[in-house]
Order: sequence, then C-alpha cells, then structure tokens
Amino acid sequence: MPTPPHFKGFHTRAIHAGARPDPRTGSRAQPIHQTTSYVFEDSEAAAAYFNLQEYGNTYARIMNPTIGALEERIANLEGGVGAVAFASGLAAQHAALFTMLQPGDHVVAASALYGGTVTQFKHLLRKMSVDLDFVDANDLDAWRSAIRDNTKVFFGETIGNPSGCILDIEALAGIAHDAGIALMIDNTFATPFLCRPLEWGADIVTHSVTKFLGGHGTSLGGAVIESGEFDWSNGRYPVIAEPSPAYHGLKFHETFGTFGYLMKLRSESLRDLGACMSPFNAFLLAQGIETLPLRMSQHVSNAEAVAEYLAASPHIAAVHYAGLPTSQYQPLVQKYLPRGAGAVFCFDLPGGRDAGVKLIENLSLFSHLANVGDAKSLVIHPATTTHRQLSDEELAAAGIGPGTIRVSIGIEDAQDLIQDLEYALGCIA
Ligand SMILES: Cc1ncc(COP(=O)(O)O)c(C=O)c1O
Repeated sequence: MPTPPHFKGFHTRAIHAGARPDPRTGSRAQPIHQTTSYVFEDSEAAAAYFNLQEYGNTYARIMNPTIGALEERIANLEGGVGAVAFASGLAAQHAALFTMLQPGDHVVAASALYGGTVTQFKHLLRKMSVDLDFVDANDLDAWRSAIRDNTKVFFGETIGNPSGCILDIEALAGIAHDAGIALMIDNTFATPFLCRPLEWGADIVTHSVTKFLGGHGTSLGGAVIESGEFDWSNGRYPVIAEPSPAYHGLKFHETFGTFGYLMKLRSESLRDLGACMSPFNAFLLAQGIETLPLRMSQHVSNAEAVAEYLAASPHIAAVHYAGLPTSQYQPLVQKYLPRGAGAVFCFDLPGGRDAGVKLIENLSLFSHLANVGDAKSLVIHPATTTHRQLSDEELAAAGIGPGTIRVSIGIEDAQDLIQDLEYALGCIA
C-alpha cells in the first residue's frame, strides 16, 4: 500500500483545513451550528466536559463546531498548535493579554499600532493595574531597555497600521526570549499568506479576522493562535503555571502542556469575558479564507501598481508603502514579506485638509469608510474622520499630516483604481 499523500500547499489548506464533509448528512459545505448548547450523552460525560477531563461541547460561548472549523483553519495556516476565535480583533487581543496578565504586570508595545489598539492598551491595561510602555517599533535597543522584572509581553504589528512600518520579528523574539518574555504579534495586515510570525519566533499571533482573512467586509471576528512552544512555567507567569482559582485550582501549563495557554484562554477568558464569535460569522469568515491566497496576490499586485503610480505623480508629496523599492523597510520586506508588503498604506497630499476632502469626494470606486481588508478598495482621510478632533500639530505628533490619506487596495482592476485616483487628483489640481 502506498503512503497516503500529506497535502501541504497553502492554497489547499486554505480550502480544506478544518473542513470535512458532515458525517451525518454528507453536507460538503461547513454546516452552521446555530445552537447555544449541546445535549450531553449522559451525566458522566457532562461532568467530564466541565472538569476539562474530556474535550467536548458544553455551551456556545466557549465552543461551537462551526467556529471550531474556522479555528482549525486559521491555526493550520499560521502554523500554530491551535486557535481560539472571538467576536472581534479587539476582543481577541484583550483576551490574549487578560489570560497572561495580573495586576502589577508590565507590557511593552510598538508605538506604531492601530489606533483602536493604542486606546485599548492605554485605558484597559490601566484599569487592570498593568503598566505599559510604547517604544519605537524599529528601535531594538528601546525594546531591550524597556524590559522590567514584571514585563510579561512584547506586542507589535507585522505591518503597522497606518504607518506601514515593518517589524523585525526574529530580532524581537530573540530579545524577548533572552528575558523569558512572550512575543505577541498582530498579523492582521500581512495574513499568514504573506508572513507567518510563529515561524520567526513569535509565541502568539492575533488577528482581526474582520479584515483580509474574511476579506469581504461582511463580518467581525478575531482569533488568537499559539505556537505551543513557549515555556509558561519559566517563573514569569504564575497566572498560567500555578493553580487557577477561577478553575478549581487547575494548573493549566502542567495539565495541558503545549495546549495550556489556549485551554486557559478558552475555558477561563472566553468563558468569563464572553466575547464569543457567532456561528454565522464563522461560516462567512471560513468561506472568505478559501480564497485568501488568490485575493492577497491580487491585493498586493494592485497595491504595488497604485503605489508606484502615486509615487510618480506630481500631485503627491509622499507615499508610505513598504513595498516600494525606495522604502526604508525594503530589507525587512524582503526577509519577512517576500510575497509583498500588503495592501494598506498612506500617502500625503500637499494641499492639506481641503485637498484630502476633495480627493475623497471625487473618488467613485474607492469607498469612504473606516475599515480595511475588503475585496473593494477603501479610503479614509484621518484628519477629517478618525482624528478629526486633533489640531494640525497633534496630527503631526501622531504621524498623520492634514493631507494624509489611507487606502486599502482591493482586488478590482489596477488600471481602474489608478483612473479613479487620477480623476480625483485632477479635481484637486
Ligand atoms: C491591525 C488591526 N488590528 C486589530 C484591529 C481590531 O479589529 P476589530 O475591528 O475586528 O476589532 C484592527 C481594526 O481595524 C486593525 O486594523
């Protein structure tokens, strides 16, 4: 008998990982298990599930087969030991941190992060009595010097939103691990098609599945993926290694080994925070992932074409796309993102706020909204929307000029996107 093939290709896994024909009905598409709860086989089975002696469905806030299929697919693509899905990307980040932190702890994060993450970290961590330091994402000495005895995690984005800076993941993992600290990476903008941070030494990856993974702007979702390789019993993480008062004294790391962090994340943090994904969203998001590699290739080639057009335009002051050959991030792009630097970037209009507003109002293919990672091209003018309350000086401090425009390049024809921009830029001129 020949050995059965082991299918490894990314395109194949994006379609098949986590998905099996339903054994009862033969349904080929993933069934949507729209249920809150599951009938137990008997009382003994029920007790074993609640004791975590057996892994089984108890209540849909903690697990659901449709969501499980999505979790398996994302974990497979990122190369993790498992994943836990959440209602949104921010819910995933919160739970991922909540699982490892306790009052008095300290977090070091890159300063170039999604604005919602900055707000979440600044306010939520303070409420949890956790200290926070933001450091320049590319200043490795700053990360090293920020480490304290109570530091529990380094956090950064593979591709920063919206600055477009690229993180040196392998170097950061080295600095973090020398001190016994976990490295957590938000891989939303890259997706596992462009970069897999766990392969470069990261310990935990988070996603806003809402964006490129889902890919169609229909459903919110988040995910946390773990490598299973970090030693949570190294003395820095009593909250994971020692008996948990929230789970009748269970020692998660000792009991579940490789799965200890994820078990605690699901059976305590997801259980208690309650920010679970809906089964219908899981169905849509898993279906989106089936075309992830095809979409990402088109997103990237369109982004490169649009960025090159903008860089050559006399109407543009600067284009901040790491995929341009002139970008300071090219060495990091070549190492971590050989398939491309993603499809979200900013550019500056010399005419400031007025020019920004005019550009947005004269675009027709680009949708003016606050999201990224849709098949459709999206645009936003931070100075008049997300950062509207800030003066020009405050905008400059946040790295956003009055004429800065952020685009998320979709999968339409690049030539049509360029024509749309050309027309709108002509209206400003
Ligand atoms: C890089 C990044 N991470 C996380 C999030 C938060 O995701 P969600 O909106 O799904 O909560 C966003 C949202 O824009 C994002 O851009």
